[in-house]
Amino acid sequence: MRLCVIEGDGVGHEVIPAAVRVLKALLPDLELHYAEAGFECLERLGTPLPDETIKIAEECGAVLFGAAESPSYPVEGYYSPIIALRQRLKAYANLRPTRYMPVSTARPGVDFIIVRENTEDLYTGDESADDMGASAHKIITRAATERVAHRAYRLARENGRRKVTIVHKANVLPKSDGLFRRVAFEVAEQYKDIITDELLVDTAAYWMVKSPNQFDVLLTQNLYGDILSDMGAAWGGGLGLAPALNLGDEAAIAEPVHGTAPDIAGKGVANPSGAILSVALLLRHHWLMPDLAQRVEDAVRGAIVRGFHTFDIESVNAIGTNEFTDKVIELLNDTPPV
Ligand code: NAI
Ligand code: MG
Repeated sequence: MRLCVIEGDGVGHEVIPAAVRVLKALLPDLELHYAEAGFECLERLGTPLPDETIKIAEECGAVLFGAAESPSYPVEGYYSPIIALRQRLKAYANLRPTRYMPVSTARPGVDFIIVRENTEDLYTGDESADDMGASAHKIITRAATERVAHRAYRLARENGRRKVTIVHKANVLPKSDGLFRRVAFEVAEQYKDIITDELLVDTAAYWMVKSPNQFDVLLTQNLYGDILSDMGAAWGGGLGLAPALNLGDEAAIAEPVHGTAPDIAGKGVANPSGAILSVALLLRHHWLMPDLAQRVEDAVRGAIVRGFHTFDIESVNAIGTNEFTDKVIELLNDTPPV
């Protein structure tokens, strides 16, 4: 088994080595292949995503990615390497689960997963502007909607979930979101054992705040999924705990939901749980090793139940990235918490 490791920028240099340590404790023979991407990479090598990185990622089929700094203004030669890598590896479904963690900021009973289309919508980079105006091109295709919808329903079935909620804005965008909605409902017809319902994205945002426990699987487009999943992550205890997996049929990219966290980068205090739990998703959904995935999830939960935590969870008695990771590794062989 091989893993392409890309730390990226900022706290990626701290949380990714932590997640690698956990993975190596479980799979000592795993081959690690290090590669570069991100803003620091652009400054050093003149590109945010070198061909060599794409080659290593394709050869490994499994990638662990930290985060890349993306300035909110155009920079010559820069584009988002993670969006490009998702497209290159055809990692077309972005799985973003939120589950209650025993910390004060989390919401008891929450357990949902957002399945976000990952290759199109407004994220294709097709944008133009002059001083007077700008436009961004939104792409929705039948093929991409079908494959992500099938992924959401298969995931629901395989994980004992009952309901899929299709989230869109077809009332305002009847052609693009209308197609997404129609195709998703067509796919739903093939999974009669799963309940299907739908929500407009603004209403979904309201219910995500007001009563998140009603959600099970949410199937949505790239932009809506990006926003709703950061919002949902708050109910799981915060961004520092939130994992994600970009999953295709042949390749997968595990990456925490959070970004480069420039305000805390380099201090050794970042919460590595999002990255560690992303590795658990890779084990469960790509390498098909659910027992190992469960051990990782139980170990993170176990460390938190025992009161170990980084500063983002609670400032009193907080420990650093490496110490928290040590606790998780110690607990990998422990009995799961109740
Ligand atoms: P961010 O997720 O980096 O940080 C938001 C807040 O959460 C900050 O206060 C940060 O300290 C905190 N935080 C994030 N990760 C944490 C962790 N592991 N432990 C403890 N606290 C943590 O989002 P922000 O500030 O909007 O973006 C910073 C940079 O990251 C930007 O350049 C943005 O483009 C990039 N970014 C990259 C992503 C990716 O590569 N997948 C995703 C999101 C943002
Ligand atoms: Mg995001």
